[in-house]
Amino acid sequence: MRALPSLPAAAAAALLLALAPRTPAGAELDGAQAFRSACGPCHSNNLGHRIGPSLVGIEGRLSGTAPGFDYSEVMKKAAIRWDAATLDRFLAAPASVVAGSRMSYPGLKDEARRRAIVDYIVGLRVDAPARGRLAVISAAPSVTSHEK
Ligand code: HEC
Repeated sequence: MRALPSLPAAAAAALLLALAPRTPAGAELDGAQAFRSACGPCHSNNLGHRIGPSLVGIEGRLSGTAPGFDYSEVMKKAAIRWDAATLDRFLAAPASVVAGSRMSYPGLKDEARRRAIVDYIVGLRVDAPARGRLAVISAAPSVTSHEK
């Protein structure tokens, strides 16, 4: 983790614009939007927990280990290392991958939609603290090239 210098308002606004989804209109499913409608009621895209845990930094993390979230025993014992493949399998059929999990979600059969959501959540990373809140950057490569 690397701290960003504090930015003047205009630069901060430019940074926010740089973070806007870059998918050309209609080219692909919008993962952020698919996430918001399917998962948003229970999962945030920042560090806050809702009914479900924050998914920031999910890639590479073991199941049941987001700090400060009260998981079911089965989710903690599942010991799944989350990556694009394990997330895809879980989202297709949560109850059969982690039987007895508290995630009451029936699963997402639509493969393209699942892939769009998985791409979106593996991109959720913590970047820098900003005014006591943590900024989440989902399009890091464009940001770094923009700043050079
Ligand atoms: C009805 C609420 C609800 C919905 C909708 C929901 N989840 Fe969950 N999710 C949970 C809960 C609660 C847990 C914790 C389960 C446990 O402890 O057994 C969880 C756990 C998870 C985990 C494991 C997290 C970890 O830290 O190990 C992932 C990944 C996940 N959800 C992804 C998703 C995605 C992606 C969607 C949308 C397609 C989604 N969930 C929809 C409530 C929900």
